[in-house]
Amino acid sequence: MGRFLVTGGAGFIGSNFVRLLAESTDHTITVLDALTYAGNAASLEGLPPSRCRLVTGSVADPELTQELVADSDVVVHFAAESHNDNSLRDPSPFIRTNLVGTYTLLEAVRRHGTRYHHISTDEVYGDLELDDPAKFTESTPYNPSSPYSATKAGSDLLVRAWVRSFGVQATISNCSNNYGPYQHVEKFIPRQITNVIDGIRPKLYGAGLNVRDWIHVTDHNLAVLRILEAGQIGETYLIGADGELGNKRVIELILELMGQPGDAYDHVNDRAGHDLRYAIDSTRLRTELGWEPVYRDFESGLAATIEWYRANEGWWRPMKQATEARYAAAGQ
Ligand code: NAD
Ligand code: TYD
Repeated sequence: MGRFLVTGGAGFIGSNFVRLLAESTDHTITVLDALTYAGNAASLEGLPPSRCRLVTGSVADPELTQELVADSDVVVHFAAESHNDNSLRDPSPFIRTNLVGTYTLLEAVRRHGTRYHHISTDEVYGDLELDDPAKFTESTPYNPSSPYSATKAGSDLLVRAWVRSFGVQATISNCSNNYGPYQHVEKFIPRQITNVIDGIRPKLYGAGLNVRDWIHVTDHNLAVLRILEAGQIGETYLIGADGELGNKRVIELILELMGQPGDAYDHVNDRAGHDLRYAIDSTRLRTELGWEPVYRDFESGLAATIEWYRANEGWWRPMKQATEARYAAAGQ
């Protein structure tokens, strides 16, 4: 039985990870989460209190992280400022959490010799042309576009340096766009689903030609567990499920699945510096660690996600109005 410290465990991917860990193992789980606008204690409701606890605080707090890491066998670091649009409005919390927070945790795991897994994004690689047959691999050069992706790229490089210079026992994963339950309504898919529930037309940035490589959050988290079991220290693994789809098509699918005409959406202001296409080649994860996605059909995963938002209005309703007010101010 191990003691897990899960940072950002009250966020979207982290809370799904905590549920998976609680359901499929006997490990004890401490969540360290600052409960920012994106963190929600309600995402952890129903977990066994004997094995799961939430500590409210920042990963950038050196005393607190030292204390919690000292009592842990494994640290999985999900905590981040995670939304590109917010990073364009105010990059400062991205610097503090994504860079200073990762540095602070690395110093703690260095001191205590603790196994560390770093959660990152494919956005560190920049973007691809629509007609480019290439996908991102573990050797693609870093070329981030936004303050969000630049701080995630910087955090990955800190981890690599702490492995090489100080022998920290770390692995890194870079995953593509996740969808599923408990995702904040600021993100593309839940924003459109909750808009349709509220009778608001979905909002497509620019022409909507941008392509994202969608993966169900559970497949991401199963890959993380597999890397913790069998990954090589110091290595990076790309996580993706061959789910490339244009934004316009995703909006049409949401509308169709929710019984609306497929063209009942609005084009709004494009994102500054908007990455065109992401695509992951996950050959390494599949061949070396034997991981395969479970959710292979995006449309049925999307339908289940729509059902989750319909059934859990009490979870997302408190965030909806303020989120839409922020977008309205940006003409989005
Ligand atoms: P999220 O915004 O839903 O959750 C982030 C969590 O971190 C929140 O609970 C928030 O309260 C917490 N947090 C923020 N600042 C903190 C701080 N200083 N100290 C402690 N906790 C803090 O994000 P998410 O979508 O769940 O993303 C989790 C991780 O996965 C991030 O590192 C992100 O870069 C990465 N990632 C996300 C995606 C995606 O599609 N969402 C894809 C690949 C990688
Ligand atoms: P998002 O969920 O913010 O993820 P990321 O920026 O990490 O890819 O956005 C996914 C895609 O959807 C991205 O191309 C921007 C676009 N988008 C819209 O078209 N409309 C929206 O309302 C939002 C939030 C995003």
